[in-house]
Amino acid sequence: MSIGLTVNGRDVALNADPVTPLLDVLRNYLDLKGTRYGCGLEQCGTCMVLIDGEAAYSCAREIGSVAGCSVVTIEGLGTPQHPHRLQTAFLEEQAGQCGYCLSGIIISAKALLDRNPAPSRADIVAALDKHLCRCGTHTRIIAAVQKAALMGEVA
Ligand code: FES
Ligand code: FES
Repeated sequence: MSIGLTVNGRDVALNADPVTPLLDVLRNYLDLKGTRYGCGLEQCGTCMVLIDGEAAYSCAREIGSVAGCSVVTIEGLGTPQHPHRLQTAFLEEQAGQCGYCLSGIIISAKALLDRNPAPSRADIVAALDKHLCRCGTHTRIIAAVQKAALMGEVA
């Protein structure tokens, strides 16, 4: 069965079982390895992507349910040459240690800034509440999102 969707602005048609997890499709069919597998149970947030602009878990989301949708992964935000301001801010604030959690967190931060360009600290904490960071860089992560928001104000 062919399933059509848009991934990072590119139309793709997949011959996949409709119950295949979206995360599996992204990583293993489309070679987009930036989105990570953590728990597989919608409990940790490492697999977060944007689906039609909303942050959503991809680990347990069936590919058949996103037919016709626009999916954006961390690779769709920016490139090493032209990083998104969130990616720049996370680097400048050294907001990661192992980095395993960060692509999911940056995706949720992107969804937040898209709907609220000037979030309070409490807004940021609430938006990232779904995410586990086992390294414990939470304060730097919050500082990075605050910096990215400020960078948007002067852009
Ligand atoms: S891998 Fe999806 S929430 Fe943990
Ligand atoms: S930086 Fe290691 S899990 Fe968050």
